[in-house]
Amino acid sequence: MNHPDAIQHQLIASLAGGRTVSGSDLAQQLGISRAAVWKRMTALRELGLPISANAGAGYRLQHAIQLLDGCAIQRRLSASAQRRFRAVDVVWQVDSTNSSLMRRAQLPNALPAALLAEIQSDGRGRRGRVWRSNFGGSLTLSLLWQFQHGMNALSGLSLVAGLATIRALADLGVDAIGLKWPNDLVAAGRKLAGILIELGGEAQGPCHAVIGIGINLRLDPATASGIDQDWTDITSLAPNPALIDRNGLAAALLSRMVESLERFETDGFAAFNDEQARYDALRGRPVRVSTPSGERSGIACGVDERGALRVRDDGGEFLVESGEVSVRAK
Ligand code: BTN
Repeated sequence: MNHPDAIQHQLIASLAGGRTVSGSDLAQQLGISRAAVWKRMTALRELGLPISANAGAGYRLQHAIQLLDGCAIQRRLSASAQRRFRAVDVVWQVDSTNSSLMRRAQLPNALPAALLAEIQSDGRGRRGRVWRSNFGGSLTLSLLWQFQHGMNALSGLSLVAGLATIRALADLGVDAIGLKWPNDLVAAGRKLAGILIELGGEAQGPCHAVIGIGINLRLDPATASGIDQDWTDITSLAPNPALIDRNGLAAALLSRMVESLERFETDGFAAFNDEQARYDALRGRPVRVSTPSGERSGIACGVDERGALRVRDDGGEFLVESGEVSVRAK
């Protein structure tokens, strides 16, 4: 993990358990002055860490957090994910895990890769939006995957990635999640996670996809106030959210992604049709669809064999290949 500052990392590791730690103990452990501890705590707060200081008692993180650990994630991968990813890279801070892997994909012989970051300074969502996350309270992960069949064969990939994410969450006991076309994960209509897929390469020949997943684990009020849609987080949904096993979730996500991507490569989207229908959060609902060619309304009625959204209006059924869907009040 690349740290801007090893001392800062040790400070976070000392606080991660959620206990109060005195400034003088920290100073002694790290071999620095108490004033230096104070200065570094200020810098950590500026990075968004919710650290409170209590005169006489010490410093405390508002919630215990589990720091990301690439080796721990790697060890917990399924056998096929271990074969695909030689290492799981964890960085302290990056502009965006997707941007970073898109840059890596330009290098000759880029291999399948997995990258997680504690902090994204320029997290990106679909359609040019900002993706907001806070330290320790989110999972921001991307993976780079090579396909032999060309981009034209990848329609349906966004739904496949969404279904893999649903399965990974179920592995950790988070159920009742729906998939809102094309790839938002929602619980009771509120967004829990989003997926950003970026493609490069040939339309007919080899190509690559960077699949970025952002999951809300415990959003803090400042981060949440910048989100312009209904949102939720794992803490609000899980029965025992005391400490979210971020490394376990990352390992489950990568393992489920590999399982799904391998199946998608051999069998195409048809192999996921039934599962998509089971988790479809839009079917039968009145929707408004914004597409590059304008807005249309109708009733969502599932997806076709390539993953395009089927919508019915007075004129019959039409297909939506890409766009933004909002559910209308009845
Ligand atoms: C969306 O719902 O708009 C998609 C959100 C995708 C966010 C993830 S976080 C990891 C990866 N890096 C990014 O910059 N974006 C994706």
